Amino acid sequence: MSATPETATPETATPETGTPIREIDTGAPPSRFARGWHCLGLVDEFTDGKPHSVQAFGTKLVVWADQDDNINILDAYCRHMGGDLSQGSIKDGNVACPFHGWLWKGNGRCAGVPYAKRNPKLAKTRAWPTMVRNGQVFVYNDPERNPPPSDCVIPELDEVGTQEWTGWTWNRIVIEGSNCREIIDNVVDMAHFYYVHYALPDYFKNVFEGEIAAQYMNSHGRPDVSFGTNYGDSRLESVAAYYGPAYMLNPMVQYYGDFAIETILTNCHYPIDANSFVLMYGVMAKVPEGLTTEQAQSMAQKITAGVEVGFLQDVEIWKNKTRIDNPLLVEEDGPVYQLRRWYEQFYVDSADVTEEMTQRFEYEIDTSKALESWGVEIQENLHRQETEAAEAAAAAGAASEKAEV
Ligand code: FES
Ligand SMILES: [Fe+2]
Repeated sequence: MSATPETATPETATPETGTPIREIDTGAPPSRFARGWHCLGLVDEFTDGKPHSVQAFGTKLVVWADQDDNINILDAYCRHMGGDLSQGSIKDGNVACPFHGWLWKGNGRCAGVPYAKRNPKLAKTRAWPTMVRNGQVFVYNDPERNPPPSDCVIPELDEVGTQEWTGWTWNRIVIEGSNCREIIDNVVDMAHFYYVHYALPDYFKNVFEGEIAAQYMNSHGRPDVSFGTNYGDSRLESVAAYYGPAYMLNPMVQYYGDFAIETILTNCHYPIDANSFVLMYGVMAKVPEGLTTEQAQSMAQKITAGVEVGFLQDVEIWKNKTRIDNPLLVEEDGPVYQLRRWYEQFYVDSADVTEEMTQRFEYEIDTSKALESWGVEIQENLHRQETEAAEAAAAAGAASEKAEV
């Protein structure tokens, strides 16, 4: 199958040569937010008996846990006079508004107005479907307000909560000035791993099917860059898959010689609005033989720090790039248009999801030419670095000889 662009391209002719200039079509970010489960963080963050404020989907949500640690999510703005419930308190499992004390149940019903003779029993605010899975809290967004489907796309990880694996590390970054599609594009982007993350992808394949978009990648670190993202001179085998529009699980094995480190990375986000989103990531590691859980946890922390370096490299690109709806591609760029078509299923009404958006699509990038060219560049860089180091050593030697005279 071909991975070449299929959309019409705006073009203007140059008077000098007659060769049309390709213009960028920036399009516009979608006016709605993706249908699907969005992770909001680790469940422990929300079970402290307090209401939590989450800016998401162009509005504000209040998230709290009741006495049984069930997670509830409502619109944060109180239907009485617009108070912010996330600034209130929890009373008997209900959220109490800080403005006039109205109480709201997790199902959206008004639980009472302490100063009123009669409760507006039928009053109801918006309750958002919630789920706890893999030790993480999820909220379901659907612009059509249908309930989530019973066959949930988010897989349950058997590793969570076992002795053999550490708990999750967890971090968040707020990304301003970008629509979350930018991070989705990464799924097919083989070449940016070399330029942005200083890794050499030997093997790169994508498979999209239904609500899942996967990336299979084997890579190793660039020997000419000393601060390669997180892989150094190790070898990495990675399977990263989006389950729905916003939640990726990425089991990885990093090999340092014969020593293998197994980790699972969660990479997820939720939109704040059309032009900003919260990016979150967490790592859990398999406790290697001979290591205590504490040692493995600190290893997971270090790996997380490496992952953060990687994300910040992406963020730097996103901060400065433009949105582009008509990328100009070569074969090695992978199926950007097909990926965006897959992603589109989350932005149309359920009834308008087409087979093209969900049918199985596989594409393996032939990385041979890329590796050949990058190999040459790396050798040149290493050679230059050696020469520079030798020159610096010679200069230092000459300077110290001079000082001794
Ligand atoms: S605005 Fe919430 S109780 Fe009045
Ligand atoms: Fe990236």
